[in-house]
Amino acid sequence: MRIFCLAFSIQFTFCYCQYFSGPDPTWNIRSKNEMKSKDFWFSDAQSTLYEKLSMQPNQYQAKNIIFFLGDGMSVPTVTAGRIYDGQQRGIIGERNRLEFEKFPYVGLSKTYCVDKQVSDSACTASAYLTGVKANYETIGVSADVKRNDCSGAKLPQNQLSSIAAWAMRGHKSTGLVTTTRVTHASPAGVYAHTSNRDFESDFDVHDLGHDPNNCPDIAQQLLDEVGQGLRVVLGGGTKKFLPNTMRDVYGNLGQRLDGRNLIEEWQRSKFGNARVVFNRTDLLRNDARYTDYLLGLFNTSHLAYNLDDSIDTPSLEEMTEAAIEVLSQDPAGYFLFVEGGRIDHAHHETKAKKALDETVQFSNAVRKARQLTNRWDTLIVVTADHGHTMTINGYADINNNITGFNSELSDVDNLPYATLSYANGPNYKKFYKVSGNEVDRVDLRTLNIGHKKARYPHGVPMSEETHGGGDVAVYANGPWAHLFSGVYEQNTIPHLMGFAACIGPGITYCNLRPNKTTSPIVD
Ligand SMILES: *[C@@H]1O[C@H](CO)[C@@H](O)[C@H](O)[C@H]1NC(C)=O
Ligand SMILES: *[C@@H]1O[C@H](CO)[C@@H](O)[C@H](O)[C@H]1NC(C)=O
Ligand SMILES: *[C@@H]1O[C@H](CO)[C@@H](O)[C@H](O)[C@H]1NC(C)=O
Ligand SMILES: *[C@@H]1O[C@H](CO)[C@@H](O)[C@H](O)[C@H]1NC(C)=O
Ligand SMILES: [Zn+2]
Repeated sequence: MRIFCLAFSIQFTFCYCQYFSGPDPTWNIRSKNEMKSKDFWFSDAQSTLYEKLSMQPNQYQAKNIIFFLGDGMSVPTVTAGRIYDGQQRGIIGERNRLEFEKFPYVGLSKTYCVDKQVSDSACTASAYLTGVKANYETIGVSADVKRNDCSGAKLPQNQLSSIAAWAMRGHKSTGLVTTTRVTHASPAGVYAHTSNRDFESDFDVHDLGHDPNNCPDIAQQLLDEVGQGLRVVLGGGTKKFLPNTMRDVYGNLGQRLDGRNLIEEWQRSKFGNARVVFNRTDLLRNDARYTDYLLGLFNTSHLAYNLDDSIDTPSLEEMTEAAIEVLSQDPAGYFLFVEGGRIDHAHHETKAKKALDETVQFSNAVRKARQLTNRWDTLIVVTADHGHTMTINGYADINNNITGFNSELSDVDNLPYATLSYANGPNYKKFYKVSGNEVDRVDLRTLNIGHKKARYPHGVPMSEETHGGGDVAVYANGPWAHLFSGVYEQNTIPHLMGFAACIGPGITYCNLRPNKTTSPIVD
């Protein structure tokens, strides 16, 4: 039994508190039989109702903001991810909840960009980090800048400032964590301004036919202004930071043409104790009390998928914990960006099982952040930049293996199909046999569906599966989380976060009311 408190407040003069004892919700169902009882569903819904009645808006000032971005984490990815996670843990997957699905407030964000109906991770990063929508494949610059417009991207009036810059101006600490290269589109949104997301190193700029002197690459911007202020940077991508004459600790050559070793420059440019780590052992051994700045690069390129082999690589959860430990030394609070960046990559490869597994990893990182913070002073927002074309095909039986075959056969060709499939993708010929005018589906039983590396079936042939244009969910917990409900443009998100934490150029909680710090109540 749980006790719920229902409080009515009429013009702040009258407070009435009544205790209801609601039934406990049962999430960890192991047998389908439990679901057959009408009492189960009735009391389940009643318990949700009690929970809602006891909810009160949290109107304290957010000291800390942790923004979690599941790259490409569409709503069907969340649904399938929760089923996958539940099935791995031996419970009925459909009943399971990922960590952020326990948050009290959810909204929907519209993800299109200024010039595209379906967006990419670059223009969406501008939206959810700077509060302004922009053009496809550009980062941190307004829509006056077209793709590859190097001169336009350098003009101060076209550069957008990210919520990390707002937080720095508000004297908070800032950091970023990702499973991709730290120069990849989403994390670059925290600190970079560029007319092409692919300008990650000066080699890339040159390779794409532009002059690196007129077009500063993303890696070098980690040493400019906002990048320089970041106290924690954890992810992958050593090759973007090292000269092409030098090998990284994993034995791979760097990429830079300008001969700069940006890792060493980063360390030398810091006042205070700046630590650089290249593996999990050193990350976990790091003592946050003696760390003013922390740079961790754990792969030459992106971090390996959790399901794949790697050497001494930290999980997203471990990196999130390390980042919070450093940033929470700051009594003024912090802004932290955490990206589960490889959900998207797995989808592009139509490797649905990996996409779901990365989603579960992402959820584990959210759980760790919740354990290390409290909801009275820390606003946690979880969302995706854009969707994907993966769908959950009907009508498998309850608790049917989500990564396997549907329990039904096609009623047209009598062949099995996978519950998960994509609207488009690579390897068309693997799934369809063409003879003359006839197109037949391949019998999936001859393929290894369910293996981590298996590609899932798809429709339209493409070199890689595309993003999807559906709205994505925004889950919020902590101060002003109730602002995140409803359907709104993606670029609204940093405005709401800035309001809650009293940072940024827009209206904030502190402009509206006298300053109020955190509650004495601890979660
Ligand atoms: C981790 O990195 C440190 C410093 O670069 C190195 O001395 C150590 O051997 C590495 N550990 C492993 C397991 O590779
Ligand atoms: C880096 O990632 C690649 C590709 O996923 C993987 O094969 C390799 O083992 C990783 N390196 C380390 C040091 O973990
Ligand atoms: C689901 O099916 C796939 C392949 O058929 C298999 O590899 C996987 O282990 C199954 N998962 C569970 C939880 O049974
Ligand atoms: C509230 O805090 C902000 C930022 O710290 C400060 O600029 C402002 O003067 C404060 N307002 C009041 C009423 O104390
Ligand atoms: Zn993508």
